[in-house]
Amino acid sequence: MRHLMSPLDFTTKELDELFDLANDIEKNPEKYAHACEGKILATCFYEPSTRTRLSFESAMTRLGGSVIGFADAASSSASKGESVSDTIRIISCYADICAMRHPKEGAPMVASEKSSIPVINAGDGGHQHPTQTLTDLLTIRSLKGRLGSFTIGLCGDLKFGRTVHSLIHALVRYDNIRFVFISPEELRVPDYITDKLKSKNIPYQEVIRLEEIMPELDLLYMTRVQKERFFNEEDYVRLKDFYILNAAKMSLAKKDMLVLHPLPRVNEISIEVDEDPRAVYFQQAQYGVYVRMALIMTLLGKDR
Ligand code: NCD
Repeated sequence: MRHLMSPLDFTTKELDELFDLANDIEKNPEKYAHACEGKILATCFYEPSTRTRLSFESAMTRLGGSVIGFADAASSSASKGESVSDTIRIISCYADICAMRHPKEGAPMVASEKSSIPVINAGDGGHQHPTQTLTDLLTIRSLKGRLGSFTIGLCGDLKFGRTVHSLIHALVRYDNIRFVFISPEELRVPDYITDKLKSKNIPYQEVIRLEEIMPELDLLYMTRVQKERFFNEEDYVRLKDFYILNAAKMSLAKKDMLVLHPLPRVNEISIEVDEDPRAVYFQQAQYGVYVRMALIMTLLGKDR
């Protein structure tokens, strides 16, 4: 039995197989409409989510399976003090696979150790968000035709953004990638990440101004300032509108640069950018369903 805690749980070869399956699902959805019939997915979300939870639910439903679960900690027995270890033992009796989101780093990992069904980490605190990373990689591979040989700018809250941490982790395994970290001083990418890049001799640069680096980017990954992880409101208010991507800034970029965003967007991308063909964040959300379908099938052994 396999779980998904980090994007590194799959080799790059396994990821390619997963993405091939996701692309086939995209082209031939009817072929997969009964792939997980009779199977049940539990979505255990201890933290708010729209995209991730609903895209898991949509994925399982499109595979012919069914879904049970809860959408916030207050409506689960966690509010009575139940541990995730106990909760997952119970969920294992009710479902065949579980997607778990938790505000505490490592909680899905603890759950997986006591689980008799595959557990998918659907985001744990500021730590990892592997299925968003699978979504990001599938989007890049599908729209750019390759993973590797590009300069990627990651912009916004690089300190608390778990999607950023997960994506960097996953990308270091591909060749010829240069990272540009674009953030205010207070929201710089954590040292453990830059240390890892240094130890692997992977080129990276840290800048504050988005405009100065824009012409060099092949991919721009925008993120929201993670309000819920700030210790005080004042800091959040000061930093929340630090970056606003608009048409003027887009005019500095390459003709084939892609803009990604895990969403939800707050103010960091002006809506005028939505019309630009290089803005692919809504397409990215669609890829999120295909990749979660492929992942559920793979973890349930339905991919063969
Ligand atoms: C992200 C998350 O939850 O970390 N959202 C998502 O899953 N698409 C990004 C965010 O909340 O900013």
